[in-house]
Amino acid sequence: ADVFEFPASMGKVTFPHKKHQEMLKDCKKCHENGPGKIKGFGKDWAHKTCKGCHTELKKGPVGCTDCHKK
Ligand code: HEM
Ligand code: HEM
Ligand code: HEM
Repeated sequence: ADVFEFPASMGKVTFPHKKHQEMLKDCKKCHENGPGKIKGFGKDWAHKTCKGCHTELKKGPVGCTDCHKK
């Protein structure tokens, strides 16, 4: 799928995977050990990796409800 949806108690997170692939080019930004399921994926991983990058680049959602939509 081009877009993944991750259900969460805070509200569903919609992740445009294809857009990130095209924009970032480097799969290893997220897939340390190669493409496929990410070991340890979940709340802590996402807040570190997703929110971390958006914060660092000052681009992309960083507020809770910018990612989590009911
Ligand atoms: C998971 C809260 C910000 C993306 C979670 C979970 C909670 C949470 C409680 C676990 C959900 C569950 O157990 O059902 C928050 C709060 C935020 C915040 C309070 C603000 C301080 C963000 C932001 C992003 C994000 C900014 C995106 C850049 C995710 C993702 C998951 C997640 C992808 C994993 C869902 C899964 O494991 O399937 N968040 N979040 N969150 N959050 Fe957040
Ligand atoms: C999942 C490939 C870049 C985040 C996947 C999957 C593949 C893949 C094959 C498994 C899909 C499925 O289960 O149906 C790739 C390739 C990339 C790339 C070839 C580079 C061109 C990225 C980037 C990010 C990312 C840059 C983060 C910004 C994720 C996430 C999942 C995923 C969060 C779901 C992980 C899980 O459910 O455990 N990717 N990806 N990917 N990818 Fe990527
Ligand atoms: C934008 C989610 C990981 C860099 C976005 C957007 C979402 C999102 C929802 C807004 C897309 C739009 O407006 O069309 C996530 C989630 C991540 C993740 C859930 C983890 C699974 C990352 C990582 C990086 C990154 C690791 C950098 C290494 C960016 C950038 C944008 C963006 C640069 C801005 C794109 C633009 O303004 O055109 N992200 N992201 N993201 N993300 Fe992520």
